[in-house]
Amino acid sequence: MPETMIRIENVTKVYGSGEAAAAALSGISLDVKRGSWLAVMGPSGHGKSTLLQIMGGLDRPTSGQVHLDGAELTRLGPAELAHTRARSIGFVFQSFNLLSHLTALENIELALWFGGKGRDDAHARAMSLLDSVGLKEKAQMLPGTLSGGQQQRVAVARALANDPEILLMDEPTGNLDSASEADLLNLLKRLHEQGRTIVMVTHNPAVAGHAQRLVRVKDGRIEEDRGNGA
Ligand SMILES: Nc1ncnc2c1ncn2[C@@H]1O[C@H](COP(=O)(O)OP(=O)(O)OP(=O)(O)O)[C@@H](O)[C@H]1O
Ligand SMILES: [Mg+2]
Repeated sequence: MPETMIRIENVTKVYGSGEAAAAALSGISLDVKRGSWLAVMGPSGHGKSTLLQIMGGLDRPTSGQVHLDGAELTRLGPAELAHTRARSIGFVFQSFNLLSHLTALENIELALWFGGKGRDDAHARAMSLLDSVGLKEKAQMLPGTLSGGQQQRVAVARALANDPEILLMDEPTGNLDSASEADLLNLLKRLHEQGRTIVMVTHNPAVAGHAQRLVRVKDGRIEEDRGNGA
């Protein structure tokens, strides 16, 4: 198994074209070790979410390469890419991205079906995941009737559905009160101890302090990389 789980090589991302072209990422190279926990910080609009989405194969770079567990994502076709994502990556979006016409429970079950679980197994595992984020009693609620923090916790439970090797989390604690934040950090600590690779974008220095390594992104570039080699 390669020691490097995620390798980003000279990645750029330009949105728009002509006069309107704007670079969200301007040449980023980054290696994330297997089993490490990395926090990404930086000002709003400076490319953190873009970087995370490219790491997870949800978006393609304008130039440069992305390797995930030894495979080059930029060379995979859409079906292979979707398969890799469902199998190996748990993604928590900044905007949650829950399906609004499905209940909390069904949002998680759907991810489990994509991961190949049968109906009964999926139901039991989805309930236990909801329990692990303190939302068992909200299983039948639609996302629109949940608070922001509750939706965020459903999104975290969904990301954990298929027991992914890699967790990519965009502001996973942004909407949580301090008790829920502490619970989530404990959950992440356990997952890290079990060998999962975690990349977490956050604006909160105390939350970032739980990671081993901190990367600061500014103007689409890495401004600081602290704790690498841990
Ligand atoms: N789909 C898109 N189309 C055009 N521009 C985009 C798109 N997504 C992001 N951008 C632009 O790319 C830049 C980086 O955005 P990004 O979402 O990566 O920032 P961020 O660091 O995550 O910010 P925040 O802390 O506010 O979440 C911004 O200027 C944004 O407007
Ligand atoms: Mg963002």
